[in-house]
Amino acid sequence: MVKLRTIYRCTDCGVALPKWAGRCGACGAWNSLVEDVEGFAPYSPAELISLSNGMALVPPGEPKPINALDAKISIPQPSGLEELDRVLGGGLVPGSVTLLGGEPGIGKSTLLLQLLAAWPTKTLYITAEESAQQVRLRAERLGAIRPDLWLVAEMSLTNIIAAIESVKPQLVIIDSIQAIADPQLNSAPGSVAQVRGCAHRLVQEAKARDLPIVLVGHVTKDGGLAGPRVLEHVVDTVLSFEGERHHALRLLRAVKHRYGSTNELGLFEMTENGLRSVPDASKLFLADRRPGVPGSIVVPALEGHRPLLVEVQALTNLSPSHITPRRSAQGIDAGRLAMLLAVLERRADINLSQHEVFASVVGGVKLGEPGADLGVCLALVSAATNTPLAENLVTCGEVGLAGELRQAGNTARRLAEAARLGFTRAIIPASSAVDIKISGMTLEPAHTVAEALKLAGLVTE
Ligand code: TYD
Ligand code: MG
Repeated sequence: MVKLRTIYRCTDCGVALPKWAGRCGACGAWNSLVEDVEGFAPYSPAELISLSNGMALVPPGEPKPINALDAKISIPQPSGLEELDRVLGGGLVPGSVTLLGGEPGIGKSTLLLQLLAAWPTKTLYITAEESAQQVRLRAERLGAIRPDLWLVAEMSLTNIIAAIESVKPQLVIIDSIQAIADPQLNSAPGSVAQVRGCAHRLVQEAKARDLPIVLVGHVTKDGGLAGPRVLEHVVDTVLSFEGERHHALRLLRAVKHRYGSTNELGLFEMTENGLRSVPDASKLFLADRRPGVPGSIVVPALEGHRPLLVEVQALTNLSPSHITPRRSAQGIDAGRLAMLLAVLERRADINLSQHEVFASVVGGVKLGEPGADLGVCLALVSAATNTPLAENLVTCGEVGLAGELRQAGNTARRLAEAARLGFTRAIIPASSAVDIKISGMTLEPAHTVAEALKLAGLVTE
């Protein structure tokens, strides 16, 4: 028999420890150790017995020359949701398992119900959190009632597999992986052993039936997928559904994708009747912009291959001398904001150390790339000097510690998007201005932040 022994597994790094502790000895995470079983294999007791008797469980794989393998099997099948297909590089691959992660209430169930409604063939929705009636009500609201969408409220893995066997769907959604349980495992739904065991078993089913399966996964408060990291290794694709609760915009990204790039970004808007694709995001972001206000500038950012025009805003305010001035960053990294403030002080003689500083990206977008640096700097100085920036101006570029400007990737594509929306001036790093020509747009090259501030009309000498 394979020996099963209780151990404690870290949900952050996946390490197994013999004793429980408040802090993981391997990665240092607090309160991350949960009970698990070592020697656990996703097999039934009968299979475990045959394994321990030395019998092979599955026939051994047969090696073949690579060109003799059938490439057609992994051709993605379009889902019918344009933005989802964009992120997946065409659609869902038969036999693949996709994990859709996101905070509660962000719209995962809504997105997947719409996916089922758009899918051309028979589908099965397994709801383990909500009742079948609740799902039906939502489906009515989304216009997703159709005869080949099957629904079952089920939490047991055995029954789920039986349902797949009897319905024979071409696409299965399980909502969520943390709410289902394998009755053969002695632990609660959502525990590491359950999440991993169920996912393993579902991957086997997907491969054996050439069936695409999408699993919903909840994220923890710090943004990681609940359950051990191994879950991410088990599935083929990990998608992350993000957005600010109070904004309608939702961003879909691939965090891991075995069948294509992880560079694409999908954009949706949450409306009364479900999620709507947003093909022209820049227009949406700039819709409420009020030009002529100090501290505001438009930055052509790049999310994967997708250029997005977003408004960066800043506000500075002299702080009462006895308190440390507040710094608040929304949509940009707080550390990056601190660094840009330091560069402005040391390299461009703009001292904001006595000011409260607020910087934010409008519309609930998070800018992770350094290409927004120069935009943040111009917005800060525009706010501090109470000088509005020109309405037709955009800027992009990374700022180095020496105050030098470095080119941001794919500047031409960013500027083309800005030109499309009517912007006619761009302050960009001198190195990126060399080969670029954008019709209808004047490029103003700068070597340093200080030069860029002069070009923007924010400082005089
Ligand atoms: P839901 O898909 O249940 O989120 P998740 O599965 O990620 O927890 O979506 C929940 C939110 O979406 C809910 O607060 C209401 C909102 N919503 C709409 O605004 N419009 C709609 O048509 C639907 C179905 C939901
Ligand atoms: Mg849900």
